[in-house]
Amino acid sequence: MLDFLGNLERTDLCGELRAADAGKQVVVMGWVNRRRDHGNLIFLDLRDRSGLAQIVLDKELTPEGHLKGEQVRPEYVVAAVGKVRLRGADAINPKMPTGEIEIEATELLVLNDTRLAPFSPSDEAIQNEETRLKYRYVDLRRPEMQRNFRLRHDITLAIRESLSKQGFLEIETPILTKSTPEGARDFLVPSRVHPGEFYALPQSPQIFKQILMISGFDRYFQIARCFRDEDQRADRQLEFTQVDLEMSFPRRESVFEVVELFCKAAFAVAGVALQTPFPRITYDEAMKQYGTDKPDLRLPGLTDVRSAFTDADLGTLQIDPALPVVALRIPKVGELSRKEREENHPTFDSKKGAKFIDDFKRLAKGFPEAAAKVRELAGAAEGDFVIIVAGDPAHHIKASDTKFPGRLSEREINVYAAAGNFRSELAKKYAEKHGAFAITEAAVNKTEPLAGAAGVMPFNPIWIVDFPMFEYDLADAKWVPAHHPFTSPYEADMANLLTDPASVRANCYDLAMNGLELGSGSIRIHRKDVQQQIFQSLGISDEEAHQRFGFFLDALEYGTPPHGGIALGLDRIVMLLAGAPSLREVIAFPKTAKAIDLMADAPTTVSEHQLKELHIRVALKS
Ligand code: AMO
Repeated sequence: MLDFLGNLERTDLCGELRAADAGKQVVVMGWVNRRRDHGNLIFLDLRDRSGLAQIVLDKELTPEGHLKGEQVRPEYVVAAVGKVRLRGADAINPKMPTGEIEIEATELLVLNDTRLAPFSPSDEAIQNEETRLKYRYVDLRRPEMQRNFRLRHDITLAIRESLSKQGFLEIETPILTKSTPEGARDFLVPSRVHPGEFYALPQSPQIFKQILMISGFDRYFQIARCFRDEDQRADRQLEFTQVDLEMSFPRRESVFEVVELFCKAAFAVAGVALQTPFPRITYDEAMKQYGTDKPDLRLPGLTDVRSAFTDADLGTLQIDPALPVVALRIPKVGELSRKEREENHPTFDSKKGAKFIDDFKRLAKGFPEAAAKVRELAGAAEGDFVIIVAGDPAHHIKASDTKFPGRLSEREINVYAAAGNFRSELAKKYAEKHGAFAITEAAVNKTEPLAGAAGVMPFNPIWIVDFPMFEYDLADAKWVPAHHPFTSPYEADMANLLTDPASVRANCYDLAMNGLELGSGSIRIHRKDVQQQIFQSLGISDEEAHQRFGFFLDALEYGTPPHGGIALGLDRIVMLLAGAPSLREVIAFPKTAKAIDLMADAPTTVSEHQLKELHIRVALKS
């Protein structure tokens, strides 16, 4: 028999009771985490969102409560009325924050029972993620998940407060709207009242926030939900949340300052003191040093070891002498076995025209001087493993050799990128296997430099600047925007827009941290003539531009101030600070890798009636 709550009011949260509360009369409510039956005494660990408290049901004191205590099972919902008392010295549990006290119950109400879930929130580790997602309501009761969402709340609040203090106004932009140019596929929503027409869900509030600048709001922000139909990964969900902002009359540095301030506030919530200003690196330098535009500064960078080899050496080794020869160093793993090396091979990205040498013993036999020099240049200590990544002359992939003064060619970038991919894959692998990298420590240790990596902090923000404005799409043989088509080129490079697109730098920037892209933004184009030139160099006709962004191009003609902004992935920030392996740990109701909501069972088919109303016919090949 279940009890009604009646007028009973909760007085305290379980996890907040302390020795100082001894003697206090309390009413606590929550879920039974664990039950131990010692005959005349039954102990219940009661759990609410604040933590656990121990309830004692003494048969002598409350025969009725004791009887109910015999019947309750884990995850039943109960209320306990009683008095806080100090535990005897031998019963103190130092592992529990409430371990010094217990509640001597005078009454127990059983408010609800439960079906048996396939796992319990008090289980140490739940292996099957699909089960967790299907029974998400039970999964979210787990203290770890409760902590993640408390953290998410606190971070969001800190960001809102910081931006509000910095003069930003939170303004909501539409969810039912028109396609936005972020490069992913749109989610479309059919219109009932306009047969055959569709809204698109926003991939970002990009166009609207720029229009808000035209409208004179000066500083806008939004904790904005975005929707992108793209492949799911640990750091990618179909719907996710951006900290999105835009400001009028900014220098690039003004955007950086705003972001650094709110990041500082957000990270402080999790006990992380970020140093500002964040370091900056150009795109080309990031590629050279880390082989990626989202470097993980906790790992050793790449080293240029071209000088260790003579041209004749490179000829014998069948290495392209015109391309970079870089070394990547993996600390402390020792010499890898042949089997281990072979395991690594399939992960190596050779399609990009790069090759690698990982059998250092063999290299040292044939080229002792070069091998020693490579280790010296890479700063390899005893026990550090070194791999060389270089250009493969036999695998001459189609790529542009065009090189602009001071800029990397696409072929060079490919070699660095191959080294960068290899580096981060091995980092993950050997962090687990050998503890060789410091990256696994970050989740645990938030404030001290990482052990074994002198002076390296656990969270390392870095701005990446001077991206190329365009990338050449070999498949379609055309230039495509590296960011989005509203990004301003550097004023100094504008003269080259049509004649020399590859040399044009974009006034855009990314914020990376620990190998993740946290944010991305740019100073925008505010002049119609420049916007037209960009469309022209992208091969977008006036007609197409008008069809896709006509309303925005119109708006640009009505007194647009210079403006710029950025968006950071809120889920990614929380994931990093929670030390979580995937966004699914910090999004309450996420989709699986197959884009399914297992709990709600979405997507699903809909009724014929609904389809008819929406003027939709489903054509499925069986
Ligand atoms: P961008 O597309 O780079 O820029 O997105 C900005 C940030 O949003 C996060 N993000 C995601 N997080 C989870 N799942 C996804 N599928 C996903 N896609 C992006 C990332 C990323 O850095 N309008 C521009 C910003 C601007 O120019 O102001 C934009 O959306 O952390």
